[in-house]
Amino acid sequence: MSSTLSFVLGTRPEIIKLSPVIRACQRREIPFSIVHTGQHYSEKLDSVFFEQLGLPAPEYNLTIGSSSHGEQTGRMVVEIESVLEKERPDVVLVQGDTNSVLAGTIAATKLDPILVGHVEAGLRSFDRDMPEEVNRRLADHAADYLFPPTETARDQLLEEGLPAEWMTITGNTIVDAVTENTSIAHERSDVLSEFGVRERFALLTAHRAENVDDRERFASLIDSVAAAVRKHDLSVVYPIHPRAEKRISTLDIDVPEEITLVEPQDFLDFLVLEDEAEIVFTDSGGVQEESCILRTPCVTLRDNTERPETIAVGANRIVGVERASVVNGVREMLAVEPDWKNPFGDGTAAEQILDALEYE
Ligand code: UD1
Ligand code: UDP
Repeated sequence: MSSTLSFVLGTRPEIIKLSPVIRACQRREIPFSIVHTGQHYSEKLDSVFFEQLGLPAPEYNLTIGSSSHGEQTGRMVVEIESVLEKERPDVVLVQGDTNSVLAGTIAATKLDPILVGHVEAGLRSFDRDMPEEVNRRLADHAADYLFPPTETARDQLLEEGLPAEWMTITGNTIVDAVTENTSIAHERSDVLSEFGVRERFALLTAHRAENVDDRERFASLIDSVAAAVRKHDLSVVYPIHPRAEKRISTLDIDVPEEITLVEPQDFLDFLVLEDEAEIVFTDSGGVQEESCILRTPCVTLRDNTERPETIAVGANRIVGVERASVVNGVREMLAVEPDWKNPFGDGTAAEQILDALEYE
């Protein structure tokens, strides 16, 4: 069977951020297929989002799973190529900066005449030690359609010499997903009573390799978050990504009583936690965007961000993982009036992407 459009995806943020585009395809009756690499496979990082976001089951699940960068990406390229040979879509859409994105892009770009569209193009942390930075640069430079979410991202692509006619600024599809789901989340979720969280709490997510794979850095991150919330009488809810959960035990990280570890949350419960928290601590890209959209102050536990728009509007601050810096950042962000403007568009990114691909 042949589809017009294939989505190659493999991780939690890709499922969430492509969901508005997949649903827009359904509305427009565009034939499409979903190729899931299987990079994420735990129910709480994967199938829970297909169910909750009303997405059809993937036509293909390549069940690649976890391994080293080279093995994971290489095996994905082989398997994606074989699926695309069969499926022969006009366009392959990938989103973001994971190994699944890189593999989908490499496989598709060499199969003539398949074109590649990169959703969320042009983001840069300028930190080439991060695997995500390598993936997003390579994907942008191999893609035929570039969908930068903002002018800043578009300008970066121009700066790197990519042609303006390949680019359409669409806003970020996460605005579509947040807009579609926030009020449903508040109606349906009972996450706050489930965890018995206090009226005033903070939300923490940390899973990036550079933060959790190094014992000293991960321990400093945890210690700094606890020190910061102690000063404001806040408790912390930490839905823990399996990568970080494993590191807590293998690196023997001590988690103080201020921080409650809980399982990864589904999207609706997580949106409620983000919306209701006094402050968000994170190293996630998507969570920096969502807290900005929901007007919850954020501190980013990294030394850089590829989401400078959140800093520019005053929604986010880069604080790293050192105690003094995290404590100061939290004090400052808790004093901020959360009245900034969302810099990521008006929630029509998915429709704009399909318009740019000239699907009626
Ligand atoms: C990947 C992305 C990262 C993104 C994150 C989103 C790359 C290089 N990294 O990181 O940019 O922020 O997804 O969540 O693509 N594991 C499970 N169950 C799963 C998946 C992973 O237990 O379903 C565990 C395994 O021990 C695995 C580890 O998590 O070794 C890391 O998984 P991996 O896919 O390599 O990267 P992420 O840390 O998830
Ligand atoms: N998310 C979720 N449950 C959680 C943690 C995160 O649904 O327990 C969602 C969050 O709303 C956001 C996305 O996962 O849309 C971010 O994914 P992640 O932090 O894994 O990856 P990154 O954005 O850093 O690539």
